[in-house]
Amino acid sequence: MTAILAVDALSVRYETPDGVVNAVNDVSLEIAAGECIGVVGESGAGKSQAFLAVMGLLAPNAKVSGGAKLRGRELLGTDPRALRELRGAELAMIFQDPMTSLAPHIKVGDQIAETLVVHKRTSWRDARAQALKLLEQVQVTDAARRLTQYPHELSGGMRQRVMIAIALACDPVMLIADEPTTALDVSVQAQILSLLKRLMRERGMALALITHDLGVVAGLADHVTVLYAGRVVEAGTVRRLLKQPAHPYTAALLRSMPRIDASVSEPLVAIRGQPPSPRELVGGCPFHPRCDLAQPRCAEERPTLRSTAGAMVACHFPIAASHGDLS
Ligand SMILES: Nc1ncnc2c1ncn2[C@@H]1O[C@H](COP(=O)(O)OP(=O)(O)OP(=O)(O)O)[C@@H](O)[C@H]1O
Ligand code: SF4
Ligand SMILES: [Mg+2]
Repeated sequence: MTAILAVDALSVRYETPDGVVNAVNDVSLEIAAGECIGVVGESGAGKSQAFLAVMGLLAPNAKVSGGAKLRGRELLGTDPRALRELRGAELAMIFQDPMTSLAPHIKVGDQIAETLVVHKRTSWRDARAQALKLLEQVQVTDAARRLTQYPHELSGGMRQRVMIAIALACDPVMLIADEPTTALDVSVQAQILSLLKRLMRERGMALALITHDLGVVAGLADHVTVLYAGRVVEAGTVRRLLKQPAHPYTAALLRSMPRIDASVSEPLVAIRGQPPSPRELVGGCPFHPRCDLAQPRCAEERPTLRSTAGAMVACHFPIAASHGDLS
C-alpha cells in the first residue's frame, strides 16, 4: 500500500498547571489514496488532537513527538509557512461546526474563491467562477445566489457543504473530516455522507473520518482505527472489525450503539464506568477498570498493539474469531 498519510508513533501532551495531559499516545496509522479510514472512540479519546497535530493546528503549548508524512513528506516540525501552504493545497480538514471555521462577515463565494487566490494564485475573477462550480459539485441548490450570501443565511447542512467546497477548492489528496455530520439532522447527515463518498470516488481522495458513530463508519470506511485513552486499541478492515471485534472495548462500543447494519437487533448495553482522565496514569491496560474480561495481568502489564488472526489489537486476551476469515 502506498500511504498518502502515514502517522508514526504520534504523541501529544500538554503540561498544564494541574499536571500533564497525555492526549495522544504512540498512535500509528496509514491511509492509502482513495481510501476512507474511520477513527472512532469515546469523547476525549484523542481523535481530534491526533489529526490537529497532523494539520499543525494544535494549541501552542502542545508537545508533539513522532512523525506524520503526507506522500512521504514529513509534516511535524515543518516550518509553519510551508505547512500553511500544504494545508488547503494538499491537506484539508472540516469540522463539526462550520460556523466556527467560516468568517461571518464575508460572502460565501468570496470565502471559497479566496482559497484559490491564496493557494493557487488564481485571479479573483477566475476564482469566483470556480467557486460557483465547486458549490454545484457539492450540490448546493441555487448556487449562483448562494455565492452572494453570508454564512448565517444558510442552513447547517448548506454551511457544511460550503466548508466541503472550500476544503476541495485546491483538490487536496487527503481530507480530514472531524465529526462532519454530528451537528446535523439525520436526513441531512445521510446526504453529506453520500456526498463525501461520491467526492472520494470521483477524486481518488483519501478521507479520514473521525466519528463516535459506528453506523457512519459502516457506510463509508474501508478501515477503522479504534482509540481509547489516546491509544490505538484495535485497527483493521471495517468488515472484520464490525463483525468480529477482537478488543473487548471495540466489542463493548458495538454493543452500546444502535446498528443499522446488524442482522439481529440486540439490546443496547452501555459501557460501565468512564474512560480514564488523560491526567491519570492508569497502570496496565488502560481499559482494565471497565473490562468484563480483565484478569490480574491486565492491571499490571500494558498490552502492546500486535497482529493476531487478521486483527491489530492491544489486548492480552483478545476475543477469538468465531468462524470464517473476514480479514
Ligand atoms: N489545549 C489543551 N490543553 C490541555 N488538554 C487538552 C487541550 N486540548 C485538548 N486537551 C485534552 O486532550 C484530550 C483529547 O481530546 P480530543 O479533543 O482529541 O478528544 P476527542 O476524541 O476528539 O473527543 P470528542 O469526541 O469529544 O471530540 C482531552 O482529554 C482534552 O481535554
Ligand atoms: S488487556 Fe485485559 S483489561 Fe485490557 S482489554 Fe484485554 S482483557 Fe480487557
Ligand atoms: Mg473531537
